[in-house]
Amino acid sequence: MDAKFIVIEGLDGSGTTTQIRLLAERLRAMGRSVAETAEPTNGSIGGLVRDALSGFTPRTGAEIAALFMADRVAHNANPVNGIEKLLSEGRDVICDRYYYSSMAYQGTVTDPEWVFRINADCPEIRKPDLCVFLDLDDEECIRRMERGRSYREIYENENALLAIRKRYYDVFRRLEVRDNIVVVDAGRAPEAVAEDVFAAVRRILE
Ligand code: TMP
Repeated sequence: MDAKFIVIEGLDGSGTTTQIRLLAERLRAMGRSVAETAEPTNGSIGGLVRDALSGFTPRTGAEIAALFMADRVAHNANPVNGIEKLLSEGRDVICDRYYYSSMAYQGTVTDPEWVFRINADCPEIRKPDLCVFLDLDDEECIRRMERGRSYREIYENENALLAIRKRYYDVFRRLEVRDNIVVVDAGRAPEAVAEDVFAAVRRILE
C-alpha cells in the first residue's frame, strides 16, 4: 500500500484536531495504518516554539519562523517517529499543521517572502500528497476558542486571525500548481466537514 502524507490546516479553532481524529478512524477502518502527528512537535525545538507562542519566552517573528522551520526539518528526519520514517514503514501520516501555517502565520509578522522560500525550497522538508484547509471565518474561530479555553496564545486574537486567513489564501494561490490543496467549509457540523475531508483524501488513494 502506498503510504500518504496528508496535512490538515486551518485557523485556530477551525477544528483540525477533531477532523484528524475522524479521518484517522476512517482510514483505519479501511485497513490502513495511520500515524497522527502535529507541529509544533513534542521534540526539543517544538518546546522552544511553544514557549514563544505562550509568550513565556518573547521572540521576534523571524526567530519564531526559524524555530518552526528547524522543528519541521527535525520532524521530517526524526529516526524514531519522523515523517520519512513513518512513510517508509507504509504508514499514512496525518499532520496537524505544516509549512502552510508558517507561511500564513509568520508571514504576517516577518518577511513573508523569506518565510515562503525557506520552507518551499528546503530539500529536507517533504511536500505533502494533500493539504486540506478547514476554512472558517476568523470571528467564528474566536467564538469557538472562547468556549474551549481560558488562555490565548500570541496569534489568537481577531486582528491577527483576519490577517492570517488572508495570508493563507495568498499562499494557496501561489502554491496552486505545486501543491495539492483542497479548501473545505469548516462552518458546519463535524460529520459534514469530515465527509468533504474524506472525499479529498479518497481522490489521492485512487
Ligand atoms: P495548535 O497546537 O493549537 O495547532 O497551535 C499551534 C499554534 O502555532 C497555532 O496558533 C498556529 C501556530 N503555528 C505557527 O504560527 N506557525 C507554524 O509553522 C505552525 C506549525 C503553527
